[in-house]
Formats: sequence, C-alpha cells, structure tokens
Amino acid sequence: MSSALANSVEKRDIAFHIHSQTNPQLLEERGPLVVTRGEGARIHDNAGKTYIDAMAGLWCASLGFANQRLAAAAARQYGELGYYHTFFQRTTDSVATLAETLVDLTGMTGGKAYFATSGSEANETMVKLAWVYHAVRGKPTKRKVIARDRAFHGSTIAAASMCGLPFMHREFGLPLPGFLHTLCPDPYRGMRAGEDEAAFVERLAAELEALILREGPDSIAAFIAEPIHAGGGIIVPPQGYFARIQAVLKKYDILLLDDEIVCGFGRTGNWFGKETVGAEPDMMALAKGLSSSYFPISAVVVAPAIYEALREVNKGGGSFGHGFTNSGHPVGVAVALEAIAIYREMDVVAHVRTMGARLRRHFEAIAAGSPIVGEVRGAGLMLGIELVADKATRVPFDPRLQAGPQFDRIAYDNGLIARCMGDVLGFSPPLIVDEKDVDAIAERCATSLRQLERQLAA
Ligand SMILES: Cc1ncc(COP(=O)(O)O)c(C=O)c1O
Repeated sequence: MSSALANSVEKRDIAFHIHSQTNPQLLEERGPLVVTRGEGARIHDNAGKTYIDAMAGLWCASLGFANQRLAAAAARQYGELGYYHTFFQRTTDSVATLAETLVDLTGMTGGKAYFATSGSEANETMVKLAWVYHAVRGKPTKRKVIARDRAFHGSTIAAASMCGLPFMHREFGLPLPGFLHTLCPDPYRGMRAGEDEAAFVERLAAELEALILREGPDSIAAFIAEPIHAGGGIIVPPQGYFARIQAVLKKYDILLLDDEIVCGFGRTGNWFGKETVGAEPDMMALAKGLSSSYFPISAVVVAPAIYEALREVNKGGGSFGHGFTNSGHPVGVAVALEAIAIYREMDVVAHVRTMGARLRRHFEAIAAGSPIVGEVRGAGLMLGIELVADKATRVPFDPRLQAGPQFDRIAYDNGLIARCMGDVLGFSPPLIVDEKDVDAIAERCATSLRQLERQLAA
C-alpha cells in the first residue's frame, strides 16, 4: 500500500473515529463518505462526486450547506465576543433578542425561552421543568413521562428513554424506569380493518387513558410528542389526534411537551409543526432549523405557568440548578437570529408549501406507476414514501430483503441522499430548494426506485 493511501482520510477515519448511528464493521469494510464542501442543497465528496442531500443532513441544514450570510454572521460575532455564558445573571443583547423573537414566533404568549446546545438537551430540560412544575403545585409524585412508539427524541439518557425505537435502547438497557410508551398514531400501519380515522383517534386516546390509569395519574408528569414523527418514519397523525389526546392529558393534569426539533422553522409548511397538527403545548423544544445547524444551539420555550413554577421553587433564594456552558453562546445566537431573518425574507412558509406541493405531486406520480410504493405522506418539505411488497394488501417486504437500505445505496450511486427508516424513504431537503432541485430529487428518486424494483424482482 502506498503511504498516501495508508494516510488517506478514509484509513485514518476508520482507525481513530467512532461514528454516530453506524455499524462499525460496515464502516471498516466500505469506508466513510468524505464530504469536502457544500453548495446550496448539494454536497461534494473527495472523489469529486456531487449529491443532492434530500435530507438536509439530519433534517437540519434548512438554508443549505454553504450559506454565506450565516458564515458572515458567525464571523462578525466571533470578532466581537467569541464566548460568553448565561449563568449568574449574565446575558448579551442578542440573547435577549433571540429569546423575545422565539416567544413571539412560537406564540407562547407571556412565556420565556431557555437556551441549550442540542435537541436532546432541550428535551431533557423540558422533562426537568415538568418535574419542577408539578412539585411546586404539591404533586411531587408526578414524575413519569409518556412518549409514543417509533418516536425519536435524542440520544442522552432520558431523551433516548423517550425514544420509541428499540435500536436506541438495545445496547444500553434502556429505557430508564418511568419512561413509558403508548401507540404510534400511524394511520397506514395502525388502523384496523373497518376502522376510520375518527375511530382510530378514539382508540389511540382510549389506549393512552388506559395507560395513565394503569400507572396512576398521580405518577405521570408529561406526554412528549413530535407533531409529525420524523425519524420514526414520517408519520402524520390522523385528523383530530392532538385535540383528542390533549383532552385526556388535561383531565389528568399532564403537560404536553412538543418536540419541534425537526418540525420547527417552516419544515411542515407552517412556522411550527404544532400549527400543522393543531397542538397546544405547554413547552416546545427547538433546535436544528433554529440555526440551520450552522452552530449547535437549541431552545426550550415555556408557557408562563412553567416559568412561574421555576420562580416559586427558588423564592427562598435558590438558583435554577440547570445550565450548559454554551447555553446562549453568542455565536449560536447570532447565527440563529440571521437564520430567522432569512426565513422571514424568503417567506419560508409560502416557499415550503409551494416546493413541498411540487415534490409531493412528483412522488404521487411515481407512486401511481410503481408496484412497490404503498403510500406517499408527510407535510411541507417533510415527505415519506413507504415501500411495500403488495400495494393492495399493504403487506411489507420481508425485512431480510432490506428494501429501504438497498434504495439508499442505489440513490447514493445516483447522486441522491435520502434516508430509509426501515422501508420508509425519508425526504427532508434544505428549505431553500427551488423547482430545479425538487425536480432533480424526484427524477433521481424515480430512477432509483426503478432500479430497486428490478433488483428486488431478480
Ligand atoms: C425529533 C428529534 N428530537 C430530538 C433530536 C435530538 O437532537 P440532537 O441530536 O441535537 O440531540 C432529534 C435528532 O435528530 C430529533 O429528530
């Protein structure tokens, strides 16, 4: 082996780097994809190949991969104040501005915003605040959290416990006690024969209520949900789901924690996913699109009653016993403010609705001509294609066929990055995509699906 190859990025990466959500052996066999630079919705690798990243990285690079305004905002801020924190009554002008902006944008009137650096931290912060809220009101036994099957809420210990995906638990002996799961509101897979959406919603609410009663309402603090499941397979809940679920939660004094980490900032064709599904949360977790992931920043926006509880519990002189070194990092805040300014200028909601409708029309045309597309679903620029062995009966492929992962590999060869979640193909491109990008995604998807059909038939 030449020393150049021995010292290649690939070799050094395999030798020294542990990857997230990667099979170690597969990495050793195939090597990593080495990304060198970005351009709009596209990335380039070190072999000179270009891909359209129809997943915006991890549902996050909403403004594409090399936005110069975000770069300039970060550079400006680094030049002025490269670090400060928010402990011990410290702040900056832009921290106050971003907090105000988020309270206003989310419609959490009278509420407040807290900053962290990852989605997982934001979700865990919501859980701790739910505990404070109930304890202050004389209900300290309300500690448990209910999430849904197939949910994804992050990788730290409580966040992973809230995931409803076995692969997030398997190696670690999770979930922790006190983290419960109820049914996933997936109409395509969850509805029984003869059941309509309204009956399905009633059954989901009844199952939730039965779980609450089994565990004891006095033990349940909160229910956490994404408006539309992302990593679980782009699952849009049936009409009326959140209104019905919230009636159950209110009956038993249980808070609704809204994980907007993927759905927030225009992704579903509204500023926030809660508008798309009609949810009225007590707290919201924001990340990813908040800064287009150009800086690790997340936020929790809380309703006034949650802040009041925090104030009350500390009225004897204590301090909120929570915080991250980089909470409210000035560069993250500057990037987030610039990202929000760009979303407003481009009218992100209108743009996502137009581009999302165009992509969906393409996908529906593909589905009509494909024997293996069971369903196209989603909202805005968050769309999923579910592959099935039989369209009429919805019988899935034998998991050993690995239909979804095969699609990912074919698409990748065709210069398209999608993401399979089992046999659901996910598409969540940068929100800046134009007609040409959307058409290119659809065309590469159609080509890849035809190749997959031939491969599966053989
Ligand atoms: C819905 C949702 N919640 C939480 C998270 C966790 O965010 P992070 O990886 O920044 O901790 C993710 C990450 O993909 C997510 O998709």
